[in-house]
This record gives sequence, structure tokens and C-alpha cells, in this order.
Amino acid sequence: MRIFSYIDHNGAAGPSGDVAGVRERIRANLSGVGATIALASARGGVGKSMLAVNIAAVLAMKGRKVAIVDADLNSPSVAAMLGMKPQRRLPMIEGIEPAAGPHGLRVVSSDQLPGGEAPPISFVQDQIDGNNGGEPVAPAPTRPAELSYRDALSRILAQSQFGSLDLLIIDLATGIDRLHVLASMMALDGVLLLTHPSAQDTSAARNAMKIGRAIGVLIVGIVENMVGFNCDGCRAVRPLWPEGDLHGIAREAGVPIMARLAFEPRLADSTDRGVPFVREYAATPTGKVLADIANQVDAMIASRTRAADTLA
Ligand SMILES: Nc1ncnc2c1ncn2[C@@H]1O[C@H](COP(=O)(O)OP(=O)(O)OP(=O)(O)O)[C@@H](O)[C@H]1O
Ligand SMILES: [Mg+2]
Repeated sequence: MRIFSYIDHNGAAGPSGDVAGVRERIRANLSGVGATIALASARGGVGKSMLAVNIAAVLAMKGRKVAIVDADLNSPSVAAMLGMKPQRRLPMIEGIEPAAGPHGLRVVSSDQLPGGEAPPISFVQDQIDGNNGGEPVAPAPTRPAELSYRDALSRILAQSQFGSLDLLIIDLATGIDRLHVLASMMALDGVLLLTHPSAQDTSAARNAMKIGRAIGVLIVGIVENMVGFNCDGCRAVRPLWPEGDLHGIAREAGVPIMARLAFEPRLADSTDRGVPFVREYAATPTGKVLADIANQVDAMIASRTRAADTLA
């Protein structure tokens, strides 16, 4: 198992500084980035990473410069979904170089960082205990794992060499607590909230929207995924779950439902093969919905650029 300090270029494993200092370092590092969006969800397996790679692929194929940070540091999936193999590069002296993906995409993922082996990365920053067969020891009570996740993510955001980008997509691990951590480090232009339509997921999404409002992040839209099963030969799309009242909840929160995606077996398959669905199946209903989401994000970037030009 690797520990996080392995991916820090100088091996230092301390906290990344005070909150204001961290925000300033990240802000400075992202000065060439046109817009930032995060993909978040209250519950797991709802399609954040799948959507991240498909939005990125659509926009990259349109000529936009896009990078993805896979902020699921323990179970990264973005690089694999893009067909990228683990890297075995030497650490850079200054910062982290995003790995080159298909269509000119750039990816920062814990399985692409120096060290190259498959995860897991432990966020326990204590040194390896020599009496423990080389395995990391349990976290010291003074060093809670959550603090270490914050350190790891802040270093990635502050040290990755993104250069000039139209869009940085941050694919978060499950849990609105992760969004809270991210929002404490950087200003986001928008958050896409993903959910399944089940009653439990819908109720978790409602809480997520409340928390989002409380912490001041702008949830620009909800993507409702796996709303039904779209099988070959079925006459109608069949629901997968008894559905909650997402529409009522979204209306109440004033957040638009950006898109509804059916369960599409070919999407699961292409994701596992490491090929963005939109590359192979752009003309299918699901391909069109994914492109529509990407185009909505593109419009958001364009309006942000226009606003920045007006201010300049
Ligand atoms: N509409 C869909 N139809 C079929 N399969 C889908 C669909 N959306 C996502 N999947 C598949 O479901 C699985 C979970 O998706 P994904 O990993 O993107 O979710 P996630 O929200 O990022 O999960 P995690 O919480 O682990 O980060 C993947 O295998 C993905 O290919
Ligand atoms: Mg994921």
C-alpha cells in the first residue's frame, strides 16, 4: 500500500497550511482555468465518474481544453474509464503533471501519480511502522483521516500543472461532506448533483441541496441517472425503482433537473472498456442526453467568459 506522502514530490507529509493560505495557493494555481465544476452526490454509484468522462470527451472533441481531477483518491476510476494505463513517471520537482488522456484530455488521478501502482492510497500520514511488516499503522488520534484527505486534495489542486484550460472538472468521491471539503478550498463555478430516482436517493439529494445552499455552493443542475431500463426490444422504458418526488424537491430548491438518463447496458459496457460512450454511440438517445449535458456546461463556461470579458 502507498501512503499519501509518496505522491508529494519532496515526501513531506504535513498539513497544507491555514485555510486562507490553502485557498490562495489553489486560486493562484488555477489562474489559467476558465471555469471549474464539481460532480457530487449524496449516495454512491450514481454515475458521477461516467458523466465526468463523457462531458469531458464531448467538450474535448469540440476543441475545448479540459482536465479532470479524480478526487476519489482511494478508488479512482476516471483514468480507467478513459482507457488510460497507470503511469510510471518520475515525480516532478515542482508539482504534479496531469497525465495525457484521449482527445487531449488531461487527468490527475491517484492511480496516475508517481508510484504508479494500483491504489489504495491510505490517507494515514504516519510513517510506516518498521515492526508492522511494512504496512501503515493505524491513524494516530491527533491525525484524523478526514484532515489527511483534505491535505491530499489541497496539494493536488495547488500543485497540479494545469496551465491554461477552458474547464476543470472535479469528480468527487461520494458524500456531500466531500463537496464541503472542496468548497472550503476553492470557489466553484457550479456543481452538478447526481442522483438515482429512488425515494432514498431523492431524500438524500434534498439534504444535499440544503447543505449546498448552507455552504454557499451553486448547484447548477441535477442529473437524474438510471431513471429506467432501456432494454433492446422493450416497448417502453421501465422504471428501476419506485421513484421519489425529485421534481417536487428540485422545484422547492430552485434547482433545475438538467437531464434524465435511462439505464443503458452499453453505457456500462463502454465505461468498463475505457471508451467514452459519446465516442461510440453519439447518435443514441443516451449519447444525445450526455452531449446535451456537456453542451449546457459549455454554455455555462461561455457565459462565464463573457462576464469576465465585460469586467476586464
Ligand atoms: N445510465 C447508466 N446506464 C448503465 N450503466 C451506468 C449508467 N450510469 C452509470 N453506469 C455505470 O454504473 C457504475 C457506477 O457509475 P460511476 O462509477 O460513474 O458512479 P459514481 O457515482 O462515480 O460512483 P462512486 O460513488 O463509486 O464514485 C459504472 O459501472 C457505470 O458505468
Ligand atoms: Mg466515481
